Formats: sequence, C-alpha cells, structure tokens
Amino acid sequence: MKRIICLVCIFLSTNLFAQKFEELAQTPPLGWNSWNTFATDINEELVKGIADAFVRDGYKEAGYEYIVLDDGWMSRERDENGNLVADPEKFPSGMKALADYVHSKGLKFGLYNCAGSKTCAGYPGSRGYEYQDARLYASWGIDYLKYDWCNTSKLNAEGAYMTMRDAIYAAGNPMVFSICEWGDNDPWKWGKDVGHIWRVTGDIINCWDCEVGHGSWSSWGVWKIINMRKDIRKASGPGHFNDFDMMEVGNGMTDAEDRTHFAMWSMLASPLILGNDIRSASKETIKTLTNKGVIAVNQDKLGIQGLRFTNADGFEIWVKPLTNDEWAMTFVNMTDTVKQIDFDWNHHEIGDDINGLRLDTKKNTYKIKDLFNNKSIGTTTNNLKSTIASHDVLMIRLKK
Ligand code: GLA
Repeated sequence: MKRIICLVCIFLSTNLFAQKFEELAQTPPLGWNSWNTFATDINEELVKGIADAFVRDGYKEAGYEYIVLDDGWMSRERDENGNLVADPEKFPSGMKALADYVHSKGLKFGLYNCAGSKTCAGYPGSRGYEYQDARLYASWGIDYLKYDWCNTSKLNAEGAYMTMRDAIYAAGNPMVFSICEWGDNDPWKWGKDVGHIWRVTGDIINCWDCEVGHGSWSSWGVWKIINMRKDIRKASGPGHFNDFDMMEVGNGMTDAEDRTHFAMWSMLASPLILGNDIRSASKETIKTLTNKGVIAVNQDKLGIQGLRFTNADGFEIWVKPLTNDEWAMTFVNMTDTVKQIDFDWNHHEIGDDINGLRLDTKKNTYKIKDLFNNKSIGTTTNNLKSTIASHDVLMIRLKK
C-alpha cells in the first residue's frame, strides 16, 4: 500500500512541476527583438528608445508587447556566485531597472540565453545553471525567455528545453518560453508541452528568396522559410506556435516585399517579432507593421496556421480560417512584372481539411475587405479583380 501511495506521490509531484505557464501566448506573441539589426551591439539606451517608439509610433496600440534583448547582454563571465551579470558598460543601471522602465510603459521585457555551455556569440550559457538563471530572471521581472541551441554538444533537445521550462515554472514568474533550436530536432513534434513557440528554421535574412551560406549553416530568405515549413501547420494552435523567426520588414527589401513578408507571417500565425530599428523606421514601414487588419488575422483566436491554396500562373494564393467562419486570403504576385488577378469564386473549392472547414461561396455571400488599403471591395458574388505589382500582395478578409 505504502509503495502504491509513494508511486502516486512521485507521479503527482513530477507532473505538478513539469509545466509551462499555460495561459500565455494564446495568440502569437507580438514584439521586438534586437538581433536582426543590432547583433551584440545593444545597450540600455537602445531598449529605452525602442520602448518609447512602441508608444510613440502606435506599435503598442496595435498590440506589440514584448521587447526582447537577444545575445550579447551579459558579461563574459558569471560572478563569484555563479550568477549571470548584465554587461555593466552596456547596461549600467542593471536589468531590473531596465525591466522596470519597460514595464512602466505598459510593455513586457524579455531576455535571451542558450541551452549550451556558451551562447552562439560566446557568452555564458545556461547549461548546469538553469534553475539559478531562471530565478535571476524572475527576480528582475523578465516576462519572456528566448533559449538558443549553440554549444550543446550531445544534449538531448527535448530534455534540455524541458529542464529550462521546469526551472522557469519553479521560479514562479510567468514567462513566454521561446524555443530556438532552428527546427533541427523537429520541435513541432514535442514543443507543445515544453514551450510557447519554437523556431522552425535556421536564421532569417533580409531577402525575398535567397539562401546565404556560412559554411556549416545557412541564412534563409522569406520564401525559403515559408516553403520549408508550410506543411507542419497542424502543430500550431493557441499556446503553441511555429515560429518563422524575427521579421526583416524595414531592413532593406522593397515596401512591396515587406508587405508580403508581413502578410505571410500573419497568415502563418507566426509570432510577429519586429527585427528592425523602429526608432527610425520609414512611414511606409510603420504603416505596414501597425496595420490592425493584418495583425487581427495573425491574432485570430483559432490560432490556425494558414495554408497554400495554389501557386499557379505566377501567384501564390494562401488562405487562413478565422473565427465565425471568416477567412483571410492572400494573393502574392511572385513574378517580376505587374499582374492582374481575376478570381472566380464559383470555380474554386477552398477549404482546410485538417480543421474540417470550408469557405462555401456557393451557399454564402461573403463581403470582402482589402486589408492593406482598409476598404471594402465587393462580395463573392462577383469575380475578384485586382492589379498586383511585382512581389506585392492583396490581402483580404471575407465576412458573411
Ligand atoms: C542564433 C539564433 C539567432 C540569434 C543568434 C544570437 O543564430 O538563431 O536568432 O539569437 O543565435 O547569437
């Protein structure tokens, strides 16, 4: 009897502590991350400037919430007690004060570390220090942890991420846990109970469809990433999303390509993490990134990752089911010239087999809204006709 009770105890205690903060990331997290633009050249003035721009330029109002410092925020060594130390030159006021500043703006603050012995840029990693580091983050009021995968030697990925998940949970401060092992260990198969989001590929780079090699690894353009991971859509849902990486909007592609990139990340229910210097973004970039209609597609409560409907005649056409039988659709001109779209609703069967949903334009008439131009453009009784510039996008929302 005693033995049975004891086994029950062990079962209960392991399950009690083996948890993530379930209530977080019910829709994909919205925020900013320092890496794409600043790499390790970061400091507290930058963070404050980003927080101020969140409020000044409408990002906060549009729903962006998390400001995340990526690699490079630490000193090269832990202190004599084994604690991580914020680099005193970059962060003279310390991380607690910076977190307080970000919180005072009604925003949330995140940090980066790594499951290995060192981060990818060579700063102290969390291996062997998971609980100590999680307690430190909690004491600073950190709301989000991005956890990378460099210098992990033979570590098992699922196990290593579970250890950090448990450490975060035990530390008691709710944190979004962002798994970043580049899709190497199929995190979409095990990530749901471990983290809130997981990267699905290696690092993004600011190009439409390129691959840039770095010897043992590559950076990937927008369409390379989309095509690589469009088929794991079943894994995404409220509280657990495929992460297509921080965005490159505002980082050198054309405005049309930026619109498409943003539309596609929204269609894919990816976290929308800004990767540009939003303190000095152009009007057009701000307009794209704060488009509430597009963000609402990303933030839809069903949390369904959209799917490719077709890619014929130089168009990519994607659909995403939304709550109340509303649908988002995105038409991308993949060619180098302007193209006309003439889409006859009666000649297409649009559906999402995984979720058993149909866009039934025979039974119902849907009103159509053009999201980037914020205007109504008719209904599904007529053909959808539009002119789309090279690499640009028409993104619509259909509502009965
Ligand atoms: C890896 C990650 C990036 C970034 C860098 C930091 O490459 O995938 O997103 O965090 O490390 O060194």
